[in-house]
Amino acid sequence: MLQNRREFLKGTAWMGAAAAAAGCATSGAVKLGGCGSMSGFAAPPLKKVRVGVVGLGMRGPGAVHRLASIPGTEVAALCDLYPDRVARQQKWLADNGKPKAAEYSGQYGWKAMCESDIDLVYIATPWDLHTPIALYAMEHGKHAAIEVPSAMTLEECWACVETSERTGRHCMQLENCCYGEVEMLTLNLARNGVLGELVHGEGAYIHDLRSLNYLDPVDGGYQGYWRLMWNAKHFGNPYPTHGLLPIMQAMNINRGDVMEYLTCVSSAQIGMDLYAKEKFGEESWQAKLHPKCGDMSTTVIRTAKGRTIMVQHDVTSARPYSRINLLSGTQGCLNDYPFRIALAEKPGDSAHSWFGPEKTNEIYNKWRHPLWKVAGELAKKMGGHGGMDFLMDLRLSYCLQNGLPLDMDVYDLATSCSLCELSEKSALNRGMSVDVPDFTRGGWKTAKPLGIETVELEKMGVIDVKKDDSQLNV
Ligand SMILES: NC(=O)c1ccc[n+]([C@@H]2O[C@H](COP(=O)([O-])OP(=O)(O)OC[C@H]3O[C@@H](n4cnc5c(N)ncnc54)[C@H](O)[C@@H]3O)[C@@H](O)[C@H]2O)c1
Repeated sequence: MLQNRREFLKGTAWMGAAAAAAGCATSGAVKLGGCGSMSGFAAPPLKKVRVGVVGLGMRGPGAVHRLASIPGTEVAALCDLYPDRVARQQKWLADNGKPKAAEYSGQYGWKAMCESDIDLVYIATPWDLHTPIALYAMEHGKHAAIEVPSAMTLEECWACVETSERTGRHCMQLENCCYGEVEMLTLNLARNGVLGELVHGEGAYIHDLRSLNYLDPVDGGYQGYWRLMWNAKHFGNPYPTHGLLPIMQAMNINRGDVMEYLTCVSSAQIGMDLYAKEKFGEESWQAKLHPKCGDMSTTVIRTAKGRTIMVQHDVTSARPYSRINLLSGTQGCLNDYPFRIALAEKPGDSAHSWFGPEKTNEIYNKWRHPLWKVAGELAKKMGGHGGMDFLMDLRLSYCLQNGLPLDMDVYDLATSCSLCELSEKSALNRGMSVDVPDFTRGGWKTAKPLGIETVELEKMGVIDVKKDDSQLNV
């Protein structure tokens, strides 16, 4: 499949050159029908958003259930390598009184789905298929929404940017953590200046995935062991976006500031070998695999405005889950796991101690993000990582129905995903600093920051509450 993916991308390499030749590589906030910056881009409103979901493994079915429950949204097509996974979701739609979806399967079933009469292709496949499917979707006039990380190489990042700009189609990364309750509270605090001027952020994906990584696909593990195999071949941070993108939003990266360079250092790989030896024996193929990916990878980024962001990745150590979620400014700091906050009374004062539960609660209630105020309770009922998955899909459909810019654009996608290749490059070179490309080509200087966005729930119609507990791992 990797070979096919390379060939596919090679086949689309001309697009960037063609876009540049056509004068599309401009940096200003041009509103377009297919040529210019996608910053602030809004597509014409859709009366009904007809979605095709591809990849119906652990993650995809939850998306089918959530999307089908949102008014003005129809799961119009289902696609997976395996026809029985498609049939299972078709049955769910029928059992829940939803319209029948078109069915696609096999290795290239997604091509026919992208060519069909739908508006949005929602991609929850293994990583190496994310960009190829998104490019094909945009080439066929569809918006693309892609699971994380949406692009694994710089070449893929640029291909997403150039194709989105040239076709005038949205290309959004489905970064559900941007809709987490703490992440949105943090964004609201940052927007209202409560933390003062932002200086430093820390995010992470620390999640012991060893049992899932080595779980046989026949018993419900990743299809074809795709995640284990990626970790086997790569160093650095292959999964940077959960911790990074919420901080990027708070710091207005690509919308007032831009990442300039980064450095990454990775530890040795110890945890996976130990796990494989203990669980499968020294002579097993698992014990002999010796994945390259170090257990702990730490990246530090510096922005044009002198801010720093630390991003960590560890899916192999025996430690509790954390995305860290730390944001620190001249007047205060908060972080998560557990959630805590400290604020100075006035500029220049110190904030030496975290607030106690009462004060923390007071701040939490006062600064709860409006989207959580409006739809948080509903989101918790719908489930999907405590509701954030539902809020992400709700905002996505709401924006498409109302012809609004999406919360996350293709530059956010490319910048956050560029860490996959850049962290590896740096870590393989003793933490040598590497430049982060400016995917906005200077557009960050004039692009408008993401506002405090919400939805008009009552205008959307009745939400058909269906609990999504199909996927518990972020
Ligand atoms: N945002 C989150 O919180 C979150 C959580 C879990 C997974 N994910 C992401 O979701 C994606 C899927 O992860 P998963 O855990 O569901 O993996 P999975 O292996 O369980 O599912 C992948 C699915 O894609 C299908 N597939 C493979 N090749 C295909 C092809 N050629 N055409 C159509 N379908 C094909 C597989 O058959 C499988 O059903 C990954 O990108 C992962 O990073 C995100």
